[in-house]
Amino acid sequence: MIDQTALPTSFRYVTYRRPEEVAEAIRTMVVRGAPAIGVSAAMGLALGVVHSKKSSLEEVFREMDANGAMLRLTRPTAVNLFWGIDRLRNRVRRAKSVGEAKEAAVEEVKAMEEEDVAANRKLGSIGAKLIEDGDTVLTQCNAGALATVGYGTALGVVRAAIEEGKLVKVLVPETRPALQGARLTAFELVTDGIDCTLISDTAVGLMMQRGRVDKVVVGADRITKDGFVFNKIGTYTEAVLARKHGVPFYPAAPASTFDLERTHDMVTIEERGAEEVVEVRGRRIAPKGVPVSNPAFDMTPPDLVTSMITERGLIVPPFDVSIPQVIA
Ligand code: MRU
Repeated sequence: MIDQTALPTSFRYVTYRRPEEVAEAIRTMVVRGAPAIGVSAAMGLALGVVHSKKSSLEEVFREMDANGAMLRLTRPTAVNLFWGIDRLRNRVRRAKSVGEAKEAAVEEVKAMEEEDVAANRKLGSIGAKLIEDGDTVLTQCNAGALATVGYGTALGVVRAAIEEGKLVKVLVPETRPALQGARLTAFELVTDGIDCTLISDTAVGLMMQRGRVDKVVVGADRITKDGFVFNKIGTYTEAVLARKHGVPFYPAAPASTFDLERTHDMVTIEERGAEEVVEVRGRRIAPKGVPVSNPAFDMTPPDLVTSMITERGLIVPPFDVSIPQVIA
């Protein structure tokens, strides 16, 4: 996988052969973004099965479940993590021999890879219909090719609109504290020659006030059955401002990001380390000993969402009714 912690200054691949290494890569955000985390976790589990030295199927299953339990503990908010682990596990558990289990593991992760890119292209083309020629789209964090297996969700909508011949500009908030906007989204858009402007997170309000934003399109880490959208910290702020300024707000996410079992009050928002806030790229910017709170995600209530862009179509309000109709 691409080491996203090294971007944009260095583009390098890292190679893993053991589930523990993949778990560490997820924890430290070498790989991040809900769909990418989901497929990576499944690949981590598959590595454990493929390289297993166990001779009986029962032992292989037990070992796989231990690796699954380890991977589940990496990050709590993105539901794709649990979706990816469950999907791989269920497929392998249908095997009748150790050899069949190893083959099934590889087949399944390759299918998940292909399906992710296909879903992003599909939701991109569905979302592109909402984007008009000349629109400026505000996004948050990185919901692009780097955050998925390929093409991207929110950036997939932008790419698809441009492929349709529309002129689209993107406003990119830096997305403190891990700077996924400045480091990753700007990297993708500059690399693809897509018109983009990097802004500080604190400039979003003024951009709205000045009428510089036509649409907000963001990714999601988990969309609960009651229509709450969990995404990178700062997304809720954008949704409130979008409502204030009459700007449509669209989360874009594949079906694998919908959680049909939980309501918003049952979801854990990840609290990450203080070092992410008191340092920028390893340089201290705050006094020693200052107390820090660093929630990595927030939740946007359904009443602030215009519609949800998925590969299965647009989901419109009331979301607690339409989500199970479209996603189940
Ligand atoms: O902490 P991160 O970088 O994993 O957070 C990622 C996001 O919030 C993305 O917007 C979301 O996962 C969607 S990625 C297509």
